[in-house]
Amino acid sequence: MQNFNYQTPTRLIFGKDVIRKLPEVMASIGKKVLLTYGGGSIKKLGLYDRVKELLKDFEIIELSGIQPNPKYDPSVLDGVRLCKENDIDVILAVGGGSVLDCSKAIAAGAKYDGDPWDLISYKVKAKAALPIVDIITLAATGSEYDCGGVISRTETNDKIGYMDPLLYPVCSFLDPTYTFTVSKKQTAAGCADAMNHIIEQYFCEDSTLLNDGFMEAGLKSLMVNARKCLEDPEDYTARAEMMLDCTYGCNAIYSLGNSQSGWPCHGMEHALSAYYDITHGEGLAIITPRWMKHILSDKTVSRFVKYGVNVFGIDSALDDYEIANKAIDETYSFFESIGIPMHLKDVGIDESRIDEMAHHVAENEGLENAWSPLYENDIAAIFTASL
Ligand code: NZQ
Ligand code: ZN
Repeated sequence: MQNFNYQTPTRLIFGKDVIRKLPEVMASIGKKVLLTYGGGSIKKLGLYDRVKELLKDFEIIELSGIQPNPKYDPSVLDGVRLCKENDIDVILAVGGGSVLDCSKAIAAGAKYDGDPWDLISYKVKAKAALPIVDIITLAATGSEYDCGGVISRTETNDKIGYMDPLLYPVCSFLDPTYTFTVSKKQTAAGCADAMNHIIEQYFCEDSTLLNDGFMEAGLKSLMVNARKCLEDPEDYTARAEMMLDCTYGCNAIYSLGNSQSGWPCHGMEHALSAYYDITHGEGLAIITPRWMKHILSDKTVSRFVKYGVNVFGIDSALDDYEIANKAIDETYSFFESIGIPMHLKDVGIDESRIDEMAHHVAENEGLENAWSPLYENDIAAIFTASL
């Protein structure tokens, strides 16, 4: 078991109509609020009007139109400018992971005099950040309980996971009823994203029994509850369980004491969504089983056996490689069964830029240090197998 140093300072307020506590939470932080949101789903939900009503005594400046795979230019830059011009005290992010992630980069940029890209690209370490409160409306990323934000810069095809403990939200409101309207596509992609967050932590050299149990339960819960959410989008219990599964998935609590895995699927997916602006969870679902096949070896097979037996109930008496291959097939079949397109060609990606993307990943994501190291030729092979 490895040493660790862990603190998550985020307050979670979970359940039906918990946002009635929003004014009380916000009042303890500040009066001038930057309200950030995406393309309009919160207006359709009635959540925008509710927030405005609850915060009628606050001064609110708005940044709307934050896109999926949030963009440095214009969203981060506009948000930083608004914070500085209006002397903002606190950011209230209302939406999915993209809105939260963008708000985190804005929070750090608002307290920095130079180009915010210096922070996102780790050239400069932030000394301070504005506080963030959020109301998450899509179960997937876990951004409501972690200190990371993933920001895309279109002109350089960069998509960078920017992490800093300063970026933990102060408080996250999680009301599962706000996820009733999430489309089937985004529900399935959210499930695949959260499952992959767990898989990235599970497949490592050194793990504990406790963590394995947590993660196996997390994967099983996600699969059961995502199916229920797809069958009945207003199944409160299923939406609630899926929401919490996703919240836990990315904050490292599942892998305290484990050795690092290097998060290879995320490293590769970042290139797919940077070059082609695809849905993150779909890219992960496509890559994951191909990556699994690629790294299956005498070194890794015992982890696949544990995963196959404990998550999918595969007969432990079978040969190790048979269990491992069945587990990979089950992973693929599950994603396919919840309606995810399982080939890159299905999401508009052909072979033309595979070498370029593989080179970009090899240069920028450090996957040569992953548990099962990946070099440029491995990455290209995984992309090709995913076509
Ligand atoms: O823009 P609006 O109109 O709000 O619509 C969004 C968007 O079109 C819609 N949506 C959100 N809540 C809804 C809803 N539609 C109906 N009802 C609701 N309640 O869903 C669409 C996708 O939203 P988005 O925020 O992009 O999805 P998600 O939460 O999956 O976030 C994906 C982004 O998060 C990053 C990904 O790379 C990607 O950029 N990630 C962030 C992580 C983190 N912070 O720790 C970890 C993840 O690995 C991930 O990389
Ligand atoms: Zn992810």
